[in-house]
Amino acid sequence: MNKTQAYISENKEIFLEELLELLRVPSISADPAYAKDVKKTASMLAAHFRNAGAKNVKVHKTAGHPIVYAERIIDRRLPTVLVYGHYDVQPPDPLELWDSPPFEPVVKKTKGHPKGAIFARGACDDKGQMFMHIKAFQAMVKAKELPCNVKFMIEGEEEVGSDNLGAFCKKNKKLLASDVVLISDTSVISNKVPSITTGLRGLSYLEVEVTGPNKDLHSGVYGGAVGNPINILSDMISSLKGKNGKIRIPGFYDDVVEVSKEERKMMNKAPFNIAKYKRELGIKDTHGERGYTVLEQTSIRPTLDVNGMWGGYIGEGAKTVLPSKAYAKISMRLVPNQDSATITKLFTKHFKAIAPASVKVKVTPHHGGEAAVTPTDTPEYKAAEKAMEHTYGTQPIPVRGGGSIPIVALFEKVLKVKTVLMGFGLDSDDIHSPNEHYGLFNYYKGIETIPYFFKYYSELKGK
Ligand code: BES
Ligand code: MN
Ligand code: MN
Repeated sequence: MNKTQAYISENKEIFLEELLELLRVPSISADPAYAKDVKKTASMLAAHFRNAGAKNVKVHKTAGHPIVYAERIIDRRLPTVLVYGHYDVQPPDPLELWDSPPFEPVVKKTKGHPKGAIFARGACDDKGQMFMHIKAFQAMVKAKELPCNVKFMIEGEEEVGSDNLGAFCKKNKKLLASDVVLISDTSVISNKVPSITTGLRGLSYLEVEVTGPNKDLHSGVYGGAVGNPINILSDMISSLKGKNGKIRIPGFYDDVVEVSKEERKMMNKAPFNIAKYKRELGIKDTHGERGYTVLEQTSIRPTLDVNGMWGGYIGEGAKTVLPSKAYAKISMRLVPNQDSATITKLFTKHFKAIAPASVKVKVTPHHGGEAAVTPTDTPEYKAAEKAMEHTYGTQPIPVRGGGSIPIVALFEKVLKVKTVLMGFGLDSDDIHSPNEHYGLFNYYKGIETIPYFFKYYSELKGK
C-alpha cells in the first residue's frame, strides 16, 4: 500500500480543495428550492468518480433526488465492497448562529482540532466522510493497488428518510451484489481513542396536530371555557414520559431485548467523562431513563423527543389569542427488535386515546427505520479493526451508536449483506447544528485508513 499512501501524501492539498468545492453547493434534500443544487452535486460526484478511474458511472434518476452509482470490477472471483454514503445535507438553519456562512467552507483551528477543521454544512455529515472513499479509491487505482472489486452507491435523500433507496436496491439487486457494505457516516470516540460503530438505533418520526376551536379566539372572551390546544398538547406530551424517564405508551417496551449484564459492563468500559460531557453541553445535569448510564441511554435504550412545537402567536410583542391549532414533531429512537411501524401505530393509538374531548388529534407519520447491530466476528469487522489499528496505532473499541441510518437494516434484508460502520467523525463535530465541522486530521485519517480496510478485507475474505 506504499504507493497508495504516497499518492495520498502528494495530493493532500488537491483532496482538500476538491472537498471544499463540493461543500460550496447547498445540496439540501429537505428543501425543494435546492433541488438543482442536489442534482448538481450528483453530477459533480459522477465526474469525480470518472476521474478517479471508476467504470459504469451513472446518475440514476429516482422519484426524488438522484443516486450516484460507480464501480470498478477487477476480477469477478475477488470479493466486492459496496460503499454507501450520502451527498445530501441538513438545512443549515438557524443561519444567524453560524460564525461563517454554511456553504462558504473555511478551515479554522480550534481546541478540539489543533490541525484545523473544515467548517461547512455537510463537512462531516456526510460529504466529507463520503468523499474520503472516492479519494482513497482514486489513490488505490492510480497506484495500481486496488486489491478487490468496489461498487459505490451515493444517495441524495438520507437526511429525509431515504424514500427511494429501498426501491432502487430491490430493482438493482444484481448491480449491487456484493460481499459487504462499507459506510463512513458515524464517529469515533476521539482522535486518540478510535472506535467502530456496531449498532444504530431505529426511528419512528411523526407529526401531531391538535385542533381546538374552529378559529383563533380572543383569549379573554373565550379563555377559561374553551380548551387551548397548546396547553392540551403540552399536557399530552408531558404525560408520555414518567418521572423515571420511562416512556408510557402501552406496549412500547414489549419487543425491546434487554442487553445482558456482561455486555453492559463491557460497554461502560469505553472512556467517558461525565463532567466533560456536561461542561461541553452547558448542562448542570443529565436527564435520562433511570437505571442506565449515559452511554446506555444514548445507545441501547429507546427514547422519545419533541423536535419542534408550534402554534398560536410567536411574533413580536404580545397578542392575546386562544389558538385554534397546535403542532409538534416527535421522534422515537428505537432499539433492535422494535419495529418502527408497530411503534408508530402504538403511539398513534395512545395519543388519540389520551386526548380530551375538547380537541381533535391528527397524527401523520413521517419516516421510520429499523435499528441495526453489526457483528464483530466477521472478516469485515476484523478488517476495519486492523486498518484502524494500523493507522491510529491503537486497537479500535466497538461501540453501539445512538443515531440512525435506516438503510443499514434494509441492506441486510434486501441485498443480504452485512455492513461495517467505519466512521471518522467526532460527536463534537456539530452535525445537524450550526458550525458543523470536520477535522483535517479526521479527513486525512479516513483517506489513509480506507485502503488498509480494502487490503485486509481482501486478505481475510479471500481465505
Ligand atoms: N450520519 C447520521 C447518523 C449518525 C450520526 C449515526 C452520528 C451515528 C452517529 C445520519 O446522516 C442521520 O443524521 N440520520 C438521521 C436519520 C434519518 C432517517 C434522517 C438521524 O439519525 O437522525
Ligand atoms: Mn449522515
Ligand atoms: Mn445526518
